[in-house]
Amino acid sequence: MLAKNKLNSVLLTLMAHILVFDSGVGGLSVVVELRALMPSVYITYVADDEFRPYGDKSETQLKARLPGLLQTLVLAVDPDIVVLACNTASTSALAEIREALKVPVIGVVPAIKPAAQLSRNKHIAVLGTPGTVQRKYVGKLMNDFAKDCRVVLQGSNVLVGLAENKLAGDHVDIAKIKFEIAPIFAGADGANIDVVVLACTHFPLLLDELKEAAPHFVKWIDSGTAIATRAQSLLKNLSLKPAPDTPQTALLIGGQTNQTRRQVFKKHGFEKTVIL
Ligand code: DGL
Repeated sequence: MLAKNKLNSVLLTLMAHILVFDSGVGGLSVVVELRALMPSVYITYVADDEFRPYGDKSETQLKARLPGLLQTLVLAVDPDIVVLACNTASTSALAEIREALKVPVIGVVPAIKPAAQLSRNKHIAVLGTPGTVQRKYVGKLMNDFAKDCRVVLQGSNVLVGLAENKLAGDHVDIAKIKFEIAPIFAGADGANIDVVVLACTHFPLLLDELKEAAPHFVKWIDSGTAIATRAQSLLKNLSLKPAPDTPQTALLIGGQTNQTRRQVFKKHGFEKTVIL
């Protein structure tokens, strides 16, 4: 029985094809978790460099852009499932994207439920983009799962830029990170916060720097592992198409890239980087 299950998951990871989508390199933090759980899965990565940052776009703008864009990508790439590896896109337009696509879509939303469960002091923070922390979707998650907690919301576009720059080879200035996260801990009870939700897929890419910048020890949690588990169980119940026999590719919409960024994609399993 065990052997059969193991064989099934090996076969699954050999055949499945996932389209991972984000505004930039943030989705790579989800790719790491997907590959950890399903080492031979085939992934096509798409970064919407042209429209980043999503965090300063309105819900209306994201609803206008994303369903059609994802529809075009799915037609071209033909994946088994889509992982929308972006909290801002997921909290703004997940229903509309699902409606537009014929394949299952897994959205990435802030890990508020596990954070509330993990917090001993019942005092947590949600660090996302300015867009995400304002969305009704997040209000609902707080209401459904964190009623017993005090929740501080903090939005930052600067951290998205710092994560992009880091993966393009730039030095990260810890002072800038300190400045961005200071409001979380500035309140009278700021010292009580014991869990911070990384509610943007770019932010786990800055985890070491965030730990260094925080004024006291906190647990940092994100949705990456849960998304990988969800993807695996969804794929198990699908009849999979044969994965392409071409190298795994990162498709970059518009924008520019450099050698370091290409190397980063390569390190994450994307042999080719193509600017669309
Ligand atoms: N990585 C994205 C997220 O999880 C957003 C970054 C951006 O603002 O473009 O929200």
